[in-house]
Amino acid sequence: MKSFPLDRILAAAVLVSAAAAFTAAQTTTQTRAMHLSHVPYSTVAPLIKAQCAGCHNDKRHPENVDLSSYAALIKSNVAVAGHPEKSRLIAYVDGTKKPRMPMGKMPLTAAQITLLKKWISAGAKP
Ligand code: HEC
Repeated sequence: MKSFPLDRILAAAVLVSAAAAFTAAQTTTQTRAMHLSHVPYSTVAPLIKAQCAGCHNDKRHPENVDLSSYAALIKSNVAVAGHPEKSRLIAYVDGTKKPRMPMGKMPLTAAQITLLKKWISAGAKP
């Protein structure tokens, strides 16, 4: 009678648990990526419209910044997709650059700035 192949069973068990751990890690990564990629312009549009578009629109657009629509915002070159830290849209609302926007109004709240950053981090998508 052959000896019991315990080593094989152990090897198989190790493989199975490694595969399970890998799958779990992969699922977490995918969930995170999916979460980030789902930040559409509609999540920031009301904020930008209320706080910025009164001054930055197709009639007046200081520094060539028109924030009255998604297309105009992108054309104005204020959001570097994936890089809030390189985006003028952020630098001028968080006070890194002056004059702080929205000019002459209350500064945006931390939550509002976080929302803008999230949108840009997720690719500044329509
Ligand atoms: C009351 C009018 C007003 C409002 C509201 C306003 N801005 Fe501005 N914005 C200006 C003016 C004027 C300038 C030019 C300032 C300067 O360079 O002296 C400017 C410049 C800018 C610039 C370009 C700065 C540069 O030189 O590169 C950005 C980016 C900007 N605004 C973003 C925003 C954002 C984002 C909001 C909304 C959160 C906003 N602004 C709200 C008047 C406004």
